[in-house]
Amino acid sequence: MKEHLEMEKQLAAKEAVKFIKDNQIVGLGTGSTAYYAIVEIGILISSGLKIKAVPTSTKTSNLAKSLNIPLIDINEVTSIDITIDGTDEFTSDLDLIKGGGGALYQEKIVALKSKKLIIIADSSKKVDILGKFKLPIEVEINSFDYVLNQIIAINGEGEIRMAPSSPYKTDQGNYIIDADFGLINNPAQLSNKLSQIEGIIGHGLFINLADRVIMGYNDSTITYFHKSSLL
Ligand code: A5P
Repeated sequence: MKEHLEMEKQLAAKEAVKFIKDNQIVGLGTGSTAYYAIVEIGILISSGLKIKAVPTSTKTSNLAKSLNIPLIDINEVTSIDITIDGTDEFTSDLDLIKGGGGALYQEKIVALKSKKLIIIADSSKKVDILGKFKLPIEVEINSFDYVLNQIIAINGEGEIRMAPSSPYKTDQGNYIIDADFGLINNPAQLSNKLSQIEGIIGHGLFINLADRVIMGYNDSTITYFHKSSLL
């Protein structure tokens, strides 16, 4: 099963990098699926592709450097042409839960600056309704108790992510709360509620951000999910 999923991730990644063109600014996601896309981009760079890339985490930045992918600071670009990233769950509406790998806020800023966000996924990530995967919420470290109580007030439950004996810290030095809201029938509404809670730096609901999801399947086929015509 696990091997199938790795093959599916790789299939989706190989398909997604076909959309990258010379001279583009490219956002590089974080996680085990994005890994395959970054490796493919490294291969294209060694064959002459000219891009500059914006990483979504220190881990991705280090991987890109090891593959000679030229990087540019996110604050030096007004927009990013195309970003390829993974997801923890997605629906056919292209709503996502991200942040399982701990890079959610940086990933969201990169997604917001991207003209096109292509999500790559194995078939285990497709769900009818978001919420089986606990929703990662990045919180400022002095606010986590307050935020936990606010999550309870909107009918959720949360716990601080540990790594393993002290709280996990994001690249920005924040904590992550993994929150359970049951199945999320109205992700936009929950996203709005969370955005109003002080202390939350960002949350893993990506609503109306993805342009396309490319899902690999274990019979070597690829399925596209998209909202609008792309590229
Ligand atoms: C990183 O914080 C996450 O948003 C990842 O993009 C997401 O968790 C998918 O990761 P995998 O590709 O490792 O499943």
